[in-house]
Amino acid sequence: MKLGTPLSDTAVRVMLLGAGELGKEVAIELQRLGVEVIAVDRYPNAPAMQVAHRSHVIPMTDPQVLNGVILAEAPHFIVPEIEAIATDVLAQIEAAGLATVIPTARATQLTMNREGIRRLAAEELGLPTSPYAFATSAAELAEAAHRIGLPVFVKPVMSSSGKGQSMIEALEDAGGAWAYAQSGGRVETATVIVEGRIDFDYEITLLTVRSRAADGSIRTDFCAPIGHRQEKGDYVESWQPQAMTPAALASARDIAGKITDALGGLGVFGVELFVKGDQVWFSEVSPRPHDTGLVTLATQVQSEFALHARAILGLPVDVTLREPGASAVIYGGMDAVGIAYEGVADALSVPTADLRLFGKPESFERRRMGVATARGDTVEQARERAREASGKVRPVRS
Ligand SMILES: Nc1ncnc2c1ncn2[C@@H]1O[C@H](COP(=O)(O)OP(=O)(O)OP(=O)(O)O)[C@@H](O)[C@H]1O
Ligand SMILES: [Mg+2]
Repeated sequence: MKLGTPLSDTAVRVMLLGAGELGKEVAIELQRLGVEVIAVDRYPNAPAMQVAHRSHVIPMTDPQVLNGVILAEAPHFIVPEIEAIATDVLAQIEAAGLATVIPTARATQLTMNREGIRRLAAEELGLPTSPYAFATSAAELAEAAHRIGLPVFVKPVMSSSGKGQSMIEALEDAGGAWAYAQSGGRVETATVIVEGRIDFDYEITLLTVRSRAADGSIRTDFCAPIGHRQEKGDYVESWQPQAMTPAALASARDIAGKITDALGGLGVFGVELFVKGDQVWFSEVSPRPHDTGLVTLATQVQSEFALHARAILGLPVDVTLREPGASAVIYGGMDAVGIAYEGVADALSVPTADLRLFGKPESFERRRMGVATARGDTVEQARERAREASGKVRPVRS
């Protein structure tokens, strides 16, 4: 792998599909290696666009438009950051040998639909998961919930970040859960997955990196497990390392190794797992850096974004954890355009604290606008500091 000079004939060009806060950090890491970065998203001035060489505002679910932008830019690598992309286009581009899709076009196709990835994990690989069924009507949903046993989680197969997701504890709520799922999913399919609840002690993201070894083969490395807390399907705080029994850690790595082997390619994967004692269940996987992994900006020698950039380019990676740390999300708290942030100096006065303000042009009540990170002698200390710092940042109307 040769790296070149951006904006010249030797440039290595990477196109980010999705230009949010995770893409922004990946873009910065690529910029540091002199890679030419093209950011694409459906709205102008998205975070990664602000640190890219060029950007395009397009509906990424429109196959023709997406194909046109890819052909015009002729990137060497296409790096999806979100799921709502016309992934069939990526498959064609990959098949024609026009660009490398990260990690693979098939991985983006399987993971954009909960049915694809669940069937691969549970039915092909035999990984432990929650009991599940798919339903295409309210009646089927109720039937599945009855068979699996309440409570169950109901999720549109085409959705992320908790959209359209609910938990039902009584069969008479099936109709409401069905209607809610229809309102929150992406339009392509009305199917929902019905999942029995796993009564876990804690949940983790196991960041798993597939990279090129010195001898050319692909190697798999595991970051220290990241614990996190979710509210309404969205992460509010994360910490690293999450303490685990040796048996649970071994099982988590085994599951993560199998699912990432099956998806293939190079890069970071966020493998979401539920843990109870020594028992581990596969939940889902992102074939890209994970939002809960923002904590690695504070904790690891190479953050998940640096790891992704290096792995994509075929460069060696180092997953070493430096210190315990935590992250705490900063929400917009209001619907407004061009907001400002007070209390930044106070937040940064908290020992070890750091901030990322993503620069999103528009704030919503529950939109993630920034994150505070902190380190500590223990995870508990780091969590307290991160929460304190995030609490000091006050979004205000300008
Ligand atoms: N079967 C289950 N048993 C117990 N808890 C669950 C189950 N399914 C989901 N949850 C809880 O809901 C959270 C969100 O679920 P999931 O990760 O499937 O949704 P998502 O929309 O993909 O969220 P995100 O995009 O933020 O990862 C999980 O992290 C977990 O806390
Ligand atoms: Mg999830």
